Amino acid sequence: MNYLGSKLSLLKFLEESINKIAGNKSNRVFCDLFAGTGIVGSYFKKKGYKIIANDIQYYSYVLNRHYIGNHKELTFSKLLKEIPELKKIKTENRKNFTCNYLSSLKGKKGFIYKNYCVGGAKDEKEQRQYFSDENGMMCDAIRQKIENWKKRKLISNDEYYFLIATLIKSIDKYANTASVYGAFLKKLKKTAQNSLILKPAELIINDNDHKVFNADINKLVPKIEGDILYLDPPYNQRQYATNYHLLETIAKYDNPKIHGKTGLREYQNQKSLYCSRPQVKKAFKDLILKAKVKYIFLSYNNEGLMTLDDIKEIMSLRGEYGHFTKEYNRFKADKSENRNYIANKTTEYLHYAVCKNPINSL
Ligand SMILES: C[S@@+](CC[C@H](N)C(=O)[O-])C[C@H]1O[C@@H](n2cnc3c(N)ncnc32)[C@H](O)[C@@H]1O
Repeated sequence: MNYLGSKLSLLKFLEESINKIAGNKSNRVFCDLFAGTGIVGSYFKKKGYKIIANDIQYYSYVLNRHYIGNHKELTFSKLLKEIPELKKIKTENRKNFTCNYLSSLKGKKGFIYKNYCVGGAKDEKEQRQYFSDENGMMCDAIRQKIENWKKRKLISNDEYYFLIATLIKSIDKYANTASVYGAFLKKLKKTAQNSLILKPAELIINDNDHKVFNADINKLVPKIEGDILYLDPPYNQRQYATNYHLLETIAKYDNPKIHGKTGLREYQNQKSLYCSRPQVKKAFKDLILKAKVKYIFLSYNNEGLMTLDDIKEIMSLRGEYGHFTKEYNRFKADKSENRNYIANKTTEYLHYAVCKNPINSL
């Protein structure tokens, strides 16, 4: 998934750096509390860590609830009532079968089609084109079917989150945007013209139990404990709530009041202090001082709202401070109608503190 600040290309760097400071014993608790797509938690889950994941956005909760929270095979045993053919399908292939079933539904004119597709908004003041008409209707049909199965208790919670995570991950590939959902393109680009097909989200099976939350990090952190706290906050003023509002609405499917050219939903309670120059330092200090962990790691780049000195000063309050750096190509959406990207170099920092000072002595 193309996500602002994704750490997909930095996973090895994170792992090697973290191992240098904290060793690489598995079975420890790794907290990924600005989890986004869940890619970092998933990586460390595969390495044998117990993961605590969190994000303030609900679509991110859904992704993490599946990638992190789900760790046993999904059987879809109750769905046999609705789809008897599933009986003949081997358990491990049922995810794929169910996704194909959903991909072949007939489209429906629901909330997404009516508000975010040209055909659905014909008579409206704002005509938005985030998806082709066909894909908007498919999205509605699939999302409504998943909700209907949940209401009728034909799927478990684990299966429910797997299916919504799959829809979010899949539909993002067909979005008619340059990269994020802050704007849509006037002409339907090539990839948006393809017909939506659900591709099952990867299921990472292992023996550990994991926890997933959907909370403001500063409120959550006093309530949990772990070994490693990995922090990957927003670096700049771009709020995730506005840049991914459509994924939020597909995940919640709550018929929100929307407004303006882009059809934004209300997001006051998801506004992040980490995107605010006047507030970020205070929020970060509060977070660092409350964390009940042995090691804290922070990803931040050299263009962020906090300076290197701010970060060093705050993290040093908890013990020995240091950092690793890596130059990498950051990809920026360009203004053409294809999702082309212009690469430019940036320095990514991984700051750390080895927590010697117990929090009650601070
Ligand atoms: C840089 S992204 C994380 C990217 C993630 N590591 C990945 O690779 O996909 C920052 C994330 O922090 C979340 N966020 C921002 N403010 C938050 C807060 N106060 N509490 C919890 N999550 C927050 C955003 O929704 C966003 O998903």
